[in-house]
Amino acid sequence: MRRTPRPLVAGNWKMHGLKSSLREARAVATSLAKGAFSCDVMICPPATLLRPMKEAVQGSKLKLGGQDCHASSQGAHTGDVSAEMLKDAGAGAVIVGHSERRADHGETNMQVRSKAAAAHRAGLVAIICVGETLAERKAGAARRVVGHQLKGSLPVTANEKNTVIAYEPVWAIGTGLTPTVDDVADVHSHIRKRLGALMSEGAPDRVRLLYGGSVKPANAEELLAIKNVDGALVGGASLKARDFLMIVSASG
Ligand code: PGA
Repeated sequence: MRRTPRPLVAGNWKMHGLKSSLREARAVATSLAKGAFSCDVMICPPATLLRPMKEAVQGSKLKLGGQDCHASSQGAHTGDVSAEMLKDAGAGAVIVGHSERRADHGETNMQVRSKAAAAHRAGLVAIICVGETLAERKAGAARRVVGHQLKGSLPVTANEKNTVIAYEPVWAIGTGLTPTVDDVADVHSHIRKRLGALMSEGAPDRVRLLYGGSVKPANAEELLAIKNVDGALVGGASLKARDFLMIVSASG
C-alpha cells in the first residue's frame, strides 16, 4: 500500500483580486485556525497581492503561492516575475504550466520544465499542470498527452517534497464540466505510473496529485475521494472563502 500524502487544496485566483479581496483570504485563515483540517490549504493570488496577503494572514496555516514565474532569477525581462521574487514576497509555491499559460503564451514543456527548475532553485514547491484538450480526449489520447507533458515538464530536481502535479483537463476548466470518476482515476493512476519511471524510488508514491477543473462544493467530496487524488486545484470556486472552505472541508 502506498503511503498517502497529506492532501493539498490550492486556490488559483488567476487574474482576479484587488486589495478588497484580502478579506476572503483572511476569512479562510480564520477558519483554518478554528477547525482541525486534515489537508494543507493554499491560495495563489496574483503577484500584486502576495505581499499584502502574506501580511493579512500572518501567523496562520494558510499557505501562499504564485501563478507563474520566469526561468531566470533576474534580468531584462520586462513584466516577468522570478521565482526568487515570489519567494521574497511570501510565496512557498508556484503554479507552472497552467493550460492558460500554455495556450495564451505558447509555453512549451521545455519552458515549463525550466520554470519548475527555477521554482526549486528558489526553494519553492512547483505545482506542475498537465491536461488534455477536448479534441485529444475525444481522440482517446488523454493518457498519451498527459504522459508526454509530464515527461517534458518535470525537471531532474523534482522530488516528493518540492513538486506537486495537477491534472487539469483543459475542457473542464471554468466550464462546469468534469470528467467521470473513472476517467479521473484512470489518468491519475497513469500519472503515478509514469512518475515511477521519471523519479527516484519511493518518490512517485508520495508526490501529491491534484485534480483541477470545475471543482466546486457540490462535486468536491466525490472528486477528492478518488484513488490517487491527493487534493484539488480550484479556480473560480476559490474566490469566495465560503465556497473554498466547503471544498477544503470535503477533503476530509
Ligand atoms: P476552475 O479552474 O476551477 O475555475 O475550473 C481551475 C484551474 O484552472 O486551476
